[in-house]
Amino acid sequence: MKSLWIAEVHGGGLDGKEVLLRGWIHRTRGSKSIRFVVLRDSTGTVQCVLKRAVIGDDNFEEISAALIESSVELSGQVIPTDREHGYEIMVKDVKIVGPVNPQRPFPITESAMKQADGGETEFLLDNRHLYLRTGRMTKMLKIRSTIFGAVHSYFRDRDFTEYQAPNFVAGAVEGGSTLFEVPYFGKKAYLTQSWQLYAEAAMPALERLYTLAPSFRAEKSRTRRHLTEFWHAEMEIAWADNEDVMSHGEGLVRHIARTLLEQRSEELESLGRDINTIQKYAESHYPRIRYDDAVEMLQSKGVEIEWGQDLDFSKEKILTEDFEVPHFLTHYPKVAKPFYHRQDPEDPKYVLCHDLLAPEGYGEIIGGGERTWSESEILQRIDEEGTPREPYEFYIDIRRYGGVPHGGFGLGVDRVCAWLAGADHIRETIPFPRDSRRVTP
Ligand code: 4AD
Ligand code: MG
Repeated sequence: MKSLWIAEVHGGGLDGKEVLLRGWIHRTRGSKSIRFVVLRDSTGTVQCVLKRAVIGDDNFEEISAALIESSVELSGQVIPTDREHGYEIMVKDVKIVGPVNPQRPFPITESAMKQADGGETEFLLDNRHLYLRTGRMTKMLKIRSTIFGAVHSYFRDRDFTEYQAPNFVAGAVEGGSTLFEVPYFGKKAYLTQSWQLYAEAAMPALERLYTLAPSFRAEKSRTRRHLTEFWHAEMEIAWADNEDVMSHGEGLVRHIARTLLEQRSEELESLGRDINTIQKYAESHYPRIRYDDAVEMLQSKGVEIEWGQDLDFSKEKILTEDFEVPHFLTHYPKVAKPFYHRQDPEDPKYVLCHDLLAPEGYGEIIGGGERTWSESEILQRIDEEGTPREPYEFYIDIRRYGGVPHGGFGLGVDRVCAWLAGADHIRETIPFPRDSRRVTP
């Protein structure tokens, strides 16, 4: 017999039918003659009723002794109930596939969490490999998978080519302070902070390109929105200005929200997300304001900020209070941004760039803009920053041979996932979060 998903059982239409299910024991209780096992698979849970008189003494003793998270195969009849979940299984046969050793019962329990020395959070991170199978993580990982799919479909449906850049690189994109250095056969290499510079090299070949790949930042402080290894959706497009790039950023985020509504409403709701909120993100236009206006807004709220400073998380958080939907901040001061951002020809104090800030206090989810695309300007910007030219010779060459206006952005996928799923912390969204203190398990 072919096994069914638990969700198929709850889908209805199987009353009285005989089914085979495979899964893990989520909960178990009972007496000397009857046992109730809540079985879990990747699609949900179902209560299974096992009677000694039906399954026989041997089977009954075995299932009664089986601990939580043992894997089992069972077959039986689908019976409608009047309870919330609709159906249960009257089991006829059962087989324990992977038993749990009673010497080492499943460690994640309410009382173990409460008693853990380092606190509940560290305990769950230490047991991350086992925590993944809890309902909350399963839902989050499905939402995450749908977001990855939406990134691919957005770009592929618009004639973008997926393109891969190296992860070992020789120079910084986003400043030296967050570079991971790795020994490289007697030399130094770095882990990439962004695909961008290598994407620009392929811009004259492909014109519209994107990637979905990990990026690395040696972020020393642990915050709710920083990982040392995060997933980065980036795009680069030829013959484009800041406005063109922003409209793709807005389009992509709306497409992600729409796809989640279509495919993951149930998971979002069960994580406590209000679907109407996501609807708003899927349908609204995202306003654009200039950096200078943001500084004024902050100053009018009594926040201390000097013109020229980049906006840190605390300031972004305050700014997002005034917006119901994501909004773009454009035209940052040149001094606050790396050399690749193009100077505004109308006022060289500014660069033609943008950040997209997610509401509800989440802050920056996209950084992007127009690139410095002429040879003379890029040399000037690199020298101004005091950056050595040598590691960037390949990058300057892109300008030497038929430079064109172009631009792109990077979207932090884990941040978008945290925001749309309503997570308190970015580490809730990624299977094995990496930060300055943790590379295990
Ligand atoms: O703003 P960033 O640093 O921009 C770049 O890397 C550009 N080179 C991208 C481009 O134009 N192709 O990073 C882009 C986004 C941020 O807005 C944020 O969402 C995410 O990447 N991000 C992080 N996410 C998690 N943990 C971190 N440590 C992150 N650093 C950046
Ligand atoms: Mg940024």
